[in-house]
Order: sequence, then structure tokens, then C-alpha cells
Amino acid sequence: MAPIKECSTIAEKSHGETDDVTTSGIGYSNLTLQPEDSIFRLFGEFMADSSPDAINLSIGAYRGNDGKPWVLPVVKKAKEILLRDPQANHEYLPLEGLTSFNEAAAKLILGENSPAILEKRYAAVQTVSGTGANRIAAEFFAKFRPSATVYITNPTWGNHKKIFMAAGLPIIEYEYWNPKTRSINHAQVLATLKTALPGSIFLLHACAHNPTGLDPTHRQWQEIADIMESRNLNPFFDCAYQGFASGDLDTDAWAVRYFVVRGFNVICAQSFSKNFGLYAERTGCLVGIFGDEEVARMAKSQFAYLLRCSISHAPGFGANIVDIVFKNEALVREWKENLKEMSTRISQMREKVVQLLVELKTPGDWSHITSQIGMFSYTGLTMPQVAAIKMKFHVYMTDEGRASMAGLNEKNVENFAKAVDWVVRNA
Ligand SMILES: Cc1ncc(COP(=O)(O)O)c(C=O)c1O
Repeated sequence: MAPIKECSTIAEKSHGETDDVTTSGIGYSNLTLQPEDSIFRLFGEFMADSSPDAINLSIGAYRGNDGKPWVLPVVKKAKEILLRDPQANHEYLPLEGLTSFNEAAAKLILGENSPAILEKRYAAVQTVSGTGANRIAAEFFAKFRPSATVYITNPTWGNHKKIFMAAGLPIIEYEYWNPKTRSINHAQVLATLKTALPGSIFLLHACAHNPTGLDPTHRQWQEIADIMESRNLNPFFDCAYQGFASGDLDTDAWAVRYFVVRGFNVICAQSFSKNFGLYAERTGCLVGIFGDEEVARMAKSQFAYLLRCSISHAPGFGANIVDIVFKNEALVREWKENLKEMSTRISQMREKVVQLLVELKTPGDWSHITSQIGMFSYTGLTMPQVAAIKMKFHVYMTDEGRASMAGLNEKNVENFAKAVDWVVRNA
């Protein structure tokens, strides 16, 4: 009985609760049911929908023109190489992950000849995909910039707020999407920067902003950087779509490289989910660029420590696949072709949707669908329209009208356009 008494004492001391103690120890009377993640809930609803016409535009994962997940041909080849490698084993990796993968990932985002690479002013560690990179960055900020506020675009990827809140950082959201013009509210972005709390961190989407698909132009990035520089604000880039957005790796890395060249300390989360189709393998990298090699070395040791506290190190399989591709010029060429194929198919679907809506004389201007890039389109459909399109046409998109364009193909795009046309007129 002594241990139970001991537990009871602990419960009283730490929580002032005595009624939660049972004969089997301290209970969990404060538990509540966590609401389901909205994207995964929607995916579950789609899976349970038996209609042959059901269209899933909720989840951000690429589909081929046959509507099925696409294993990149280059990934298939890399897997075969790994399988045949007599040296391959299942040993622990270093805490920082696979060193050659980290170096290649840093070169991918910064460019081979970036001064930051040549001067070894960067720290790169392997993470559990982009989500894990965001989380380690959030913990890094919480530890070394504990009084900093994190500014996040509204809307943004559904996980950003949760991750930064979980790390205990204060968050401010600011309007990024102008619903009237269906474009970036750039004036609001600049106004937010001008009045931001000193020392704040700005979470910026490197390319293919999720969910709007709208990125600042080069000129607009320059204006953003000017204010951030003059006010000592810190950029944190989330890069989940390099190469997948425009089909060109360098084009999609422009903003990050620009901030590095301007001399900012940049922290960047990289995901290889979309551009390698390695969704389940959780392959990512956190790269920090600093003023000198010594600061970078210290930052890397801190990243590694934060990894050790949570996951020890990131998983090896996906990083090995990416590493095999990075080390082989022919495979890199093939990867770039695979990237082009994915981004081109998505652009074609965007054009097809607009063309069909114009043919149907659907009320409104739909040109924003082709001016947006990447996986998602922020369609501008209202919540009642999103509800109606699901009920009547079995089309699944998120409440705020975000559609994953990869879910469209030659077979279902016409039905989708007709469904949009109907809800715009009737819902
Ligand atoms: C903006 C953004 N960041 C990060 C991620 C993280 O993805 P993952 O953890 O699969 O790499 C996503 C995925 O949709 C995203 O859109």
C-alpha cells in the first residue's frame, strides 16, 4: 500500500487534487477528447464515400492522371540501388542524421556556390520531414529567443500555429490573403512588418504558400527584406515545395537565397515529402545560416541536442534514398524531369479548370486559379459552398475553400468544374 500513499501525496502536492487517486494509481480525470485533425478527418470521410464520382481535393499529396499516388521513377531506382548495396545496414545514424544528405540538402536550398556553403556558415541536421524541422526550429527559438513573438500569415498551413504554440512561443497572425481581390494583401504584410515587435520572428513560406498558392514577387520580397533588415526582424522560412512549385529547383529557392545574400541569419525548414513523393518516410532537414562558422557550429550542436531530447535522430530510409539521388548526376537529371512532370500536370489542371469555368460562364473571375502555384488553390469558395459541393457532388476540400489541385485529372476535372459552377450559382 505504501506506493499508493506516496502517489496520493504527490497528487496533493503538485495538483491539489485528491479525488483522482484510485487503487491503480493516479487517474486521468482531466482528460478530454482532442478534436480530430480536420484534414485527416476529411480524408477519412472521403475514404468512406462509396460514390464513384467522389473527388478528394483535401490532402496535400500528389496524384497522377490516373488519380493514384505516384512513386517517382527516380525513387524506385534509388530504392533498388539501396537494396543491392552490400554495405547498407541498419545502424544508428549520428544525432545530426546522415551527414552527406544534410550537406546536399543545404546546397539544394542555398545553391552549390553560396558563400554560406563555401564559408561553412551553415548548420544542417536531418529532421522528421518538414513538420519535424518546424518543430526543432520552434524549440530552438523558444530556447534562444524566448521573448520573441512569431508572426504567421493568415491563412497558413494548419500545423504552424500548433507547432509554435506547443513550443510556448507567442504568435501573432496577420492577413495575407485578400478575399476581395483573391490576391496577397501586400500592404498589410508591409504594415505588419513595420509595426512588429522588435526581435520578432517572421514565418515565411519559401514558395507555393500553403494554402493560398500565392507568393510575393521578387520586388515584394525585396520590400519585405528591406523592412526586416531595418527593424532587425528574423526570417524563418518553411520550404515544403522546392522544385514542386514551379518545376525548377532554383526558381523555388529564390527567396531563401535572396535573404541569405542580404546577410540575414536565416533558419529554414526543408521537406522532401512533396518533391520526392516521400510522404511516409518523413525526410527533412533544418538548415540555419549564420554570420560565421563558429556560430553555425554552436547552432548545429543545439539542433542536435534538441533532436536527442525528442527523437534521438531522424529515420534513415528516406534520407538514404534522397542521398543516393543527390550523389548520382544521372539520377538528379531524372529527378528534375519527375519534378517537371508533377508541376506541369498540376498547371495543366489549373488551366483546364479555368477554361471550363469560362465555358460554363460561371459567375466571377477565376484567373486567380492560374496565377496561384504549387499543390493548392485557394478557390475563394465560401464555407456554405464547400459544404454543398461535398453534400451534392462528393467533392472534398477544406472548409476555407482550399483545393489540392493534384487530386484533379482528365477524368474528374469536368465534373469538378460543373460542381463549382452549381455551388457558385446556388449555394
Ligand atoms: C507549408 C508546409 N510546411 C510543412 C509541411 C510539412 O510536411 P511534411 O511534414 O510532410 O514534410 C507542409 C505539408 O503539407 C506544408 O504545406
